[in-house]
Amino acid sequence: MASPVGRRLRDGPPVVVILVGPPGVGKGTQGGLLAEATGSRHIATGDLLRAAMRDGIDLGREAQEFMSRGELVPDQLMVGLVRDVVEKMDRDVGAVLDGFPRTVGQAEALEGVLFELDRKADLVVVLEADDDVIVKRMAGRRSCGQCGAVYNVHCSRPKQDGICDQCGGVLTLRPDDDPVTVRNRIEVFRRETTPLIGYFDESPTPVHRVQADQSVADVQCALWEVVGG
Ligand code: AP5
Repeated sequence: MASPVGRRLRDGPPVVVILVGPPGVGKGTQGGLLAEATGSRHIATGDLLRAAMRDGIDLGREAQEFMSRGELVPDQLMVGLVRDVVEKMDRDVGAVLDGFPRTVGQAEALEGVLFELDRKADLVVVLEADDDVIVKRMAGRRSCGQCGAVYNVHCSRPKQDGICDQCGGVLTLRPDDDPVTVRNRIEVFRRETTPLIGYFDESPTPVHRVQADQSVADVQCALWEVVGG
C-alpha cells in the first residue's frame, strides 16, 4: 500500500527526501534513480563540491583539502552551498538530498532554510550496509572525471573498459576512494553523522531504514516500498 509520502511523490505537492548513509552505501545510485522516477531534483553535495573543484571556483579550492583527507567540509561552507541550490529550486519540484545534511548543525540549518521557503523535510531514509560491503564497492567504483557518471567493476561496467558511456571521458578511481581515506571516511561517518540519525529519530520527520547490501534493483524496490508505496 502506498505510503503518504509515496502518494504525494506521484500525485501531490513536491516532497523533500533526505538520504543518509555511510560512504559507498549507494546514496548517489539510489538518489539518482529516485529523483528520476519522481521528477525530483537530485542534490548530491559531493557531486556539487567535485564540480566546484573541476571549475576551479573558491568553494572547490577550500573544500579540496578536507575531501582529500576524507574529512567533512565545514558546515558554514556546506550550508551556503545547499541554501543557494534550494532557494533557486522551482517550488513545484521535489528534492532528493544525498549526502546533506551530515551533521546536526547542517540539519538545523536546513530546517531553517526550508522553513523560510515554507517547505520541510518529509522523510529521512537511512541506507545501511556492513563495512566490508562498502569497502568492496568503493574499491570497484570508477568515476568519469568529465561528467561525474559512476560505474563499478563488479556490477555496473561501462560498455568499453575505462571509458564513460555517456560522454567518452576517462574513468578513474576517485581520489578519496583509496583504502586509507575510505577507512577514515567510515570513521568520520560514525563520529559525525551517527548523532544526526539519532537527531532525526527524535524529530517529527519519519525515518526509515533500508538494507542496502542487496543488488541495486533490490535496494531500489526496498526504497520505493518506503518512499513510493
Ligand atoms: P560524497 O561524494 O557524498 O561521498 P560519500 O558520502 O562518501 O558517498 P559516496 O559518493 O562515496 O558513495 P554513495 O553512497 O553515493 O555510493 P554510490 O552510489 O556512489 O562526498 C565526498 C566528500 O565530500 C566527503 O567525504 C566530504 O569531504 C565532502 N562532503 C560531501 N557532502 C558533505 C556535507 N554535507 N558536509 C561536509 N562535507 C561533505 O555507490 C558506490 C559504488 O557502489 C558505485 O560504484 C556503485 O556503482 C556501486 N553500488 C551502488 N549500489 C550498489 C549495490 N546495491 N550493489 C552493488 N554495487 C553498488
